[in-house]
Amino acid sequence: MLSTADPTSGTIFDELRHREFGRLDRHHQAYLDYTGSALYGESQLRSHREILDAGLFGNPHSESNPSRASSAFIDSARQELLAFLDVDSSTHEVCFTANATAAIKLVAESYPFTPESTLLLSVDNHNSVNGIREYARRTEAHVRYLPLDSELRLHAPEELIAEAARGGGLLAFPAQSNFSGVRHPLGLVDLARSLGLDTLIDIAAMAPSHAISLRECPADFAALSFYKLFGYPTGIGALVARRDALARLHRPWFSGGTVRYVAVEADTHRLRPGAEGFEDGTADFLGIAALPAGFELLREVGMPRLTAHVASLTSVFLGQAASLRHRNGRPLVRIYGPTDMTDRGGTVAFNLEDATGEAIPYDLVDARARDAGVSMRGGCFCNPGASEAAFGLAAPQIATCLDRLGDDFTIDRFATCAGTAVGALRVSVGLANNTTDIERAVDVLASFRG
Ligand SMILES: Cc1ncc(COP(=O)(O)O)c(C=O)c1O
Repeated sequence: MLSTADPTSGTIFDELRHREFGRLDRHHQAYLDYTGSALYGESQLRSHREILDAGLFGNPHSESNPSRASSAFIDSARQELLAFLDVDSSTHEVCFTANATAAIKLVAESYPFTPESTLLLSVDNHNSVNGIREYARRTEAHVRYLPLDSELRLHAPEELIAEAARGGGLLAFPAQSNFSGVRHPLGLVDLARSLGLDTLIDIAAMAPSHAISLRECPADFAALSFYKLFGYPTGIGALVARRDALARLHRPWFSGGTVRYVAVEADTHRLRPGAEGFEDGTADFLGIAALPAGFELLREVGMPRLTAHVASLTSVFLGQAASLRHRNGRPLVRIYGPTDMTDRGGTVAFNLEDATGEAIPYDLVDARARDAGVSMRGGCFCNPGASEAAFGLAAPQIATCLDRLGDDFTIDRFATCAGTAVGALRVSVGLANNTTDIERAVDVLASFRG
């Protein structure tokens, strides 16, 4: 075991680890997949249970007392999310969805793309944002990408934004990469809007450990999932939209829950105004009642303190990983993205390399970590653009592999075909983690030294 002074010991995080996340130590698990999902604290379960025990909740699309009780929770959760993002209902709306993906899809399917307009995506995007391109292409809108530099940061995005803005359109990028942890400059939102582009920021990876102010960063749309914020409940996300931006979307259909009226004989319908016109069917009204306790946990810690905690652990991991060497002096760990803490969050992607510099297949490392009770993530993390940039895969190489493998195309087969590392490992930290978790992960990596 590597020894490190624990920067988190004796802090509120120690206390929370014991009080809220004691099950981690009972299961002897070092959980390092916070970008996959946050962990819920025990107080969240207790609070939810108490609410459900004490109350009576009906379908919110009605006026009975149980229905009103559900509506009250939904309304207050909307306000709480807006306050968390430093705005209020005078400027913004919250549309509850199933997850961040569904929130992004609401924009994708409703955005008024035209053959003149552009969908401008960063190469670094989760597939749930990449998928918008399929809607853009239906209307023959242009699809362009902001490239990445060798640190996986956006490379000179201003010029392309100005070019794309000529015909109008939508810029979509993650506030923080789920691959490299890079925090992309939110100032691009102001720039893009000033040139007439609409903007969607994917805050799923950043919001769990860093405050985001939609007042300071006036993105038209922001998408997140609540389980990534505080672990519980799953199955609820939100699109937070500026009121004026939401009004520019055209929903391609209607459904129960979204309509003021539908006439079958007269073949017409009218959507509900604002967020409700975007919330298909019945909201998860019992799940939404669990949100206040999640926000309460984050309030207790405070976002600045949580950001510092995550930064401190990430820095320990980066430092220790960089110091691991083979007997011949070659580094064991190859980090993708920034190797210091400048403009990055608590997500680190990497591969191990053997003493000759060859990538060690990520699944071997993943399996050894699993056996040691360390949860990290292996693969491309649904972020093919950042992966391709990290592994140095160019379009012709990808096309050749696709041709050769056809429907058998998978990450592992691709790795062999491309003759390069395809599939990385990812360690990501959050509220419940401590330095021991990091040391356990580093011990697993160190066991590959040759
Ligand atoms: C940055 C980012 N965006 C979007 C998503 C999609 O989230 P969900 O699967 O909750 O819809 C993820 C999930 O990992 C993510 O990390």
